[in-house]
Amino acid sequence: MSQQLFRNTTIYSPIDNGQPRVGKAQGKLAQFQKGALLVEDGLIMAMGDEEEVLVAAKGAGELQEVDCGGRCMVPGFVDPHTHMCFATLRESEFALRIDGTPYLEILSQGGGILSSVRAVAAASDDELYDNTLRHVQKALSLGTTSLEIKSGYGLDTENELKMLGVIGKVAADTPLDIVATFLGAHAIPEQYKENPDAFITLIIEEMLPQVKKQGIARFCDVFCETGVFSIDQSRRLLKAAQAMGLGVKIHADEVNDLGGAELAAELGACSADHLLAASETNIKAMSTAGVIATLLPATAYSLRKEYARARLMIENNVAVALATDCNPGSSFTESMQFVIGLAVLNMQMTPAEALTGATLNSAYTLNMADRVGSLDRGKQADFLLLEGDSPVILAYHAGVSSVAGVYKKGQKVN
Ligand code: NIG
Ligand code: FE
Repeated sequence: MSQQLFRNTTIYSPIDNGQPRVGKAQGKLAQFQKGALLVEDGLIMAMGDEEEVLVAAKGAGELQEVDCGGRCMVPGFVDPHTHMCFATLRESEFALRIDGTPYLEILSQGGGILSSVRAVAAASDDELYDNTLRHVQKALSLGTTSLEIKSGYGLDTENELKMLGVIGKVAADTPLDIVATFLGAHAIPEQYKENPDAFITLIIEEMLPQVKKQGIARFCDVFCETGVFSIDQSRRLLKAAQAMGLGVKIHADEVNDLGGAELAAELGACSADHLLAASETNIKAMSTAGVIATLLPATAYSLRKEYARARLMIENNVAVALATDCNPGSSFTESMQFVIGLAVLNMQMTPAEALTGATLNSAYTLNMADRVGSLDRGKQADFLLLEGDSPVILAYHAGVSSVAGVYKKGQKVN
């Protein structure tokens, strides 16, 4: 059997001990100054000091050596929260926002998410596929080897299924591991404005059964926010999704503190996402329930909001994951390196904590940590070679990519 030996590299990776890294452990990385990675059939056979890895390689058949040129190696990024499936950009809306119109006001006037909904309805499957693929390929070139993509610009059965179908096709056509999340409850369609409860009923009775039957999403999400869906509506939807076997996630406390984090704790959600306005009480509830906080600092940056309180979360033993939230409204970036930079400089996370958040902890929010998220034996050989001595470069080298090579299952894909 042919094996690959990646050598002449310094390896940095969180170590997976079977659960997300919390508290001080989030900031601890394994480091091998003269490291090597042994790969067979796309899986990691050994990782560590070169001499020890060579012992593991002995006796094997053909050994292909790859000189990493002294570059440092980290796990591929796992981006666990994106809205990368959309049809058109919203540049004019961005111009309105930087002129001072609030994000939720644009939505309440029928713009924002609702304008992306109109664009998806007007786009053919091929157009939507081409646009989605472009953003996914951009993410891959910037070091993302696994990601989540949400629906949510459909808001009716036909277009929600169309989005999930396109996401599935992109997943099949690209080397990344891509998981889909059903976000039918992303905004209230115009015709349900006076009766959002009836829209939740439609999602539960018509959309969810189709999503389940076709097996095209692993998670269900909801935008729980003032003027969008209430705590009670969110709870009703997510409980129905759980009863159908889907994992649940919540856009929680993004702009206002409605108690979304507490709802995530009550339901045992796979993650609570955003949390810019989450209260200390609700952060403690997440800690007790073991809910992972997925933080999206590029959204705070783009909306010019206060950042989520990552330090308070880490001090309270809440596992922190990081994601781009890539979407045409509140956060238009595919770059996990940019997110890591913001996490370090504006949320006071250490570079090591941020790397764990962007890899292992984010893999846990997607129930994918058995395969990806760290360079542990048995996982896929998904890794990056960086132009720099350590993961510090990811926060230090601002606004550009430090990713010199992207490997998925041991193959160079960028
Ligand atoms: O996570 N908050 C809701 N959804 C996205 C924004 C989507 C959009 O503006 O198109 C978010 O910020
Ligand atoms: Fe989002």
